Amino acid sequence: MPYYQQRGNIPPKRHTIYRQSDGSLYTEHLMGSLGFDGPASLLYHHHMPTAILKTKLLREHDIKKESDPTLRMRHFRTAEVPFSRSATLDRTHLLFNRDVTISMVEPSVTDDFFFRNGMADQIHYVSHGEGVLESEFGEIPYREGDYVVVPRGILHRFRLGEGNTRMLVIETPSHIRFPTRYLTKEGQLMEHAPFCERDIRPPGDPACRDETGEFRVIVKQNNVLSEIVLNHHPLDVVGWDGCYYPWALSIHDFEPIVGRLHQPPPVHQTFQADQFVVCSFTPRISDFHPEAVPAPYNHSNVMSDEVIYYTNDKFVSRSGIEAGSLTLHPAGIPHGPQPGRAEASIGAPHIEELAVMVDTFYPLQVAETALAYEDEFYGRSWLET
Ligand SMILES: [Fe+2]
Repeated sequence: MPYYQQRGNIPPKRHTIYRQSDGSLYTEHLMGSLGFDGPASLLYHHHMPTAILKTKLLREHDIKKESDPTLRMRHFRTAEVPFSRSATLDRTHLLFNRDVTISMVEPSVTDDFFFRNGMADQIHYVSHGEGVLESEFGEIPYREGDYVVVPRGILHRFRLGEGNTRMLVIETPSHIRFPTRYLTKEGQLMEHAPFCERDIRPPGDPACRDETGEFRVIVKQNNVLSEIVLNHHPLDVVGWDGCYYPWALSIHDFEPIVGRLHQPPPVHQTFQADQFVVCSFTPRISDFHPEAVPAPYNHSNVMSDEVIYYTNDKFVSRSGIEAGSLTLHPAGIPHGPQPGRAEASIGAPHIEELAVMVDTFYPLQVAETALAYEDEFYGRSWLET
């Protein structure tokens, strides 16, 4: 995120002498994306982040696509995805292309290691649960409805809280950012944007751990998972400043834009990546023209695949879906409300839907692991009978 933040203790001037109580230098560490042209932060470690005792291959990370690529409308009941152990290693992959991977995970235990995704920015939509994101930048408490965004390369761990946790995970090699049209030339969110800087939750002060020993970090890079053992606790940062850090935004802080007549999907846009967008459909008053049909019209998304994750069964244009449903409407087939949904939307004062949409500019593949949760009859639910 391009908002300057400062946490913990840092020297008054960068790249200058900054000593620990024993007289040794703190280790300065620049972390950012897009080479030296993107957002970056400067961190100050007790120990060298390069002090690696050993490293080993954990496994290759390869997503298999389904064997039947026939173009069709798809529905996956992700509520049926079983509990797994790890929030970072046990994700059930659903859809993917070269720009984005969409997965579901229901972790049951807090990882006993830290994780660094070296090949992707990650958005974690917290559908259920609460806890704390630990990172070298500090901690971020999270709860149901949060988008927890971890830019690539940031070491982190989800410390699970009470209750079951369920997260939709969106990974991308591009940089997650806000839509350009929401921003001033200087990068501030404008008045018409559906959220503002106050809604963004950066980390608190770093919970610095100056400890030596053996500490595991699992790194994903180049589709390989490697285990690296450091000779010190990886959360050993005493302070940092800059514009690169993890952050959270609640879907409940997304202020919907409404109109007398149907508003198109771009009013729901929340995030921008290079080759896809993420939108939030949130509860709102319905269209208020006396003759309005609030349900969307059919549309041919000739340049994008539409993915929607539904947190409840109240989506205006869709029937037969449930909390946890995820649908894919691929480019090449028009989509719109099922029979009766347009009529049913007329006159209702409120829209109660809560859903996350990912529109990709290039076609998605269905992962083999998604097929166990597929509703194969979904495509026929537009037939009147
Ligand atoms: Fe659509």
